[in-house]
Amino acid sequence: MNIKSDTHSELMHSATSTPNLKQRSEVNKNYGTNDFDGWVDCLINKIQFTSILDICCGTGNQLLKYAANNRNVLLIGVDISQESLQAADSRLRSIGATGYILKKVAMEDMFDDHEISNQKFDLISCFYGLYYSTDTKKTLEQMIDNLAYDGTILIVGPYGNNNSPLFEIIERHFILPDIVKRSSSTFMEHEVIPILSQYLSINTETFKNMISYPSSKVLMDYWKASTFFSSAHENAILLDIEDHFNTHGSFKMEKHIMACLARRL
Ligand SMILES: C[S@@+](CC[C@H](N)C(=O)[O-])C[C@H]1O[C@@H](n2cnc3c(N)ncnc32)[C@H](O)[C@@H]1O
Repeated sequence: MNIKSDTHSELMHSATSTPNLKQRSEVNKNYGTNDFDGWVDCLINKIQFTSILDICCGTGNQLLKYAANNRNVLLIGVDISQESLQAADSRLRSIGATGYILKKVAMEDMFDDHEISNQKFDLISCFYGLYYSTDTKKTLEQMIDNLAYDGTILIVGPYGNNNSPLFEIIERHFILPDIVKRSSSTFMEHEVIPILSQYLSINTETFKNMISYPSSKVLMDYWKASTFFSSAHENAILLDIEDHFNTHGSFKMEKHIMACLARRL
């Protein structure tokens, strides 16, 4: 069976939901066995920047790091979700950050905004969001046009067999939408790097984080907060997941994460 027709709008509803975003971040943080935040800190510390555009900034996980850096002259965060931007705003205020700009705008339209298009940025980043663009090539080319002479574009997203144990269970019941499979596996290597490498020099770094879900409830809650939840298949998949826990005692799933750092040749 396939889920279709209103799949895209349901998926985008889930992709822009602030509670879902917070839920997934919490699960990964609480049950991950490796230090994702530490890995991101190392990436960022290697980059020189004073002006930053963070695309798909969500609730501000990366903005907080940039703001804490203290070298910033200009910090702009862009997201389509007003609720997530409000969460980012209160988190930034809570660390005493000032002078940042948060804009509710789709990434496809952000360069129509003169405050963005009139700037050249030292760092343009997008963590876990570029695959929602309706035109990845155009979005990337616009980023390049607005990159400072020795600036860096930093795109972070999943790759390879990311999420595959859960996908295997789910696909016994329904076929996952193409965007879910692509964004989780080949997007970075097939859709990001080939475009950026036409104009910029590329370095990639990868990180693996084993998430050990302690109960079927935690795993179900993670799935429910994901872009690939299907209420029509909830009961059947719960049975398979409970079966897995009865046999193995826990559920382990590796997150495969790639950072693509692109600089001028
Ligand atoms: C998985 S979250 C990542 C948030 C943040 N970068 C992080 O790593 O925590 C994806 C974000 O992309 C935003 N988003 C989805 N489609 C978008 C679009 N077309 N333009 C701008 N933001 C979008 C969602 O609202 C959501 O906040």
